[in-house]
Amino acid sequence: MGFREQIDTTRLPQHIAIIMDGNGRWAKEKGKLRVFGHHNGVLSVRDIVEGAGEIGIKYLTLYTFSSENWNRPKYEVTAIMELLISTINKEIKKLMENNVRLNTIGEIDMLPQKCSTELKNAINKTAGNTGLVLTLALSYSSRREILQAVQTIAKKAENGELNSADITEAVFSDHLHTANIPDPELLIRTSGEYRISNFLLWQIAYAELYFTDKLWPDFRREDLFEAILDYQKRERRFGMTSEQIN
Ligand code: FPP
Repeated sequence: MGFREQIDTTRLPQHIAIIMDGNGRWAKEKGKLRVFGHHNGVLSVRDIVEGAGEIGIKYLTLYTFSSENWNRPKYEVTAIMELLISTINKEIKKLMENNVRLNTIGEIDMLPQKCSTELKNAINKTAGNTGLVLTLALSYSSRREILQAVQTIAKKAENGELNSADITEAVFSDHLHTANIPDPELLIRTSGEYRISNFLLWQIAYAELYFTDKLWPDFRREDLFEAILDYQKRERRFGMTSEQIN
């Protein structure tokens, strides 16, 4: 029996977040340039989006470009931005067919203008879709996101719009880029690295972490299903005892 058939679709994580890692190493293993890895990484993105939608995942968030990634060689940054534009153009029809709603988190206005314009158009076009919400984290830094939330909240307190006693976890969450998205229950990182790398630090407080040695361009829907199965075998206790949960 394949992994997909073993999944209990009544106990799916609502939200899966993925740190897509290993494109560069995948390409290097094949004696190719890093950009070749990113191109093949897009094929994995497509397969994972389809696979997630197929089994009924509601939210999928992909760490596509971190704030730190701006420090990569200029040609690589340019190639990733061009790949982003061409992928959105190529995939928009599929996103509509599959009822996927596109969303972004991060400092989108830091992206080249063509890129942010294409993204905003695609977000508007898919805004009425009711299936999977696909969030791309672009020019994203979780610490920066948290700091911006703190600044906005502090300003509201200064203006008398908010009392400090009213700053609850829910209020804080509402000031993050992920305001309308539930926290991920499952976080996956590929390529054998065991780090969070400034991704959704607040939001993953209770997420199950899943690490795989597979490099991102080799990670396909069967691997996603395997990760979901692994998640379903775990007991999520949220600080309680096993007896209390059962
Ligand atoms: C990580 O591999 C990958 C990235 C930083 C870029 C991710 C981009 C894509 C998959 C393509 C564009 C995506 C979309 C949604 C259109 P790495 O380069 O850090 O690999 P390494 O650790 O082996 O160097």
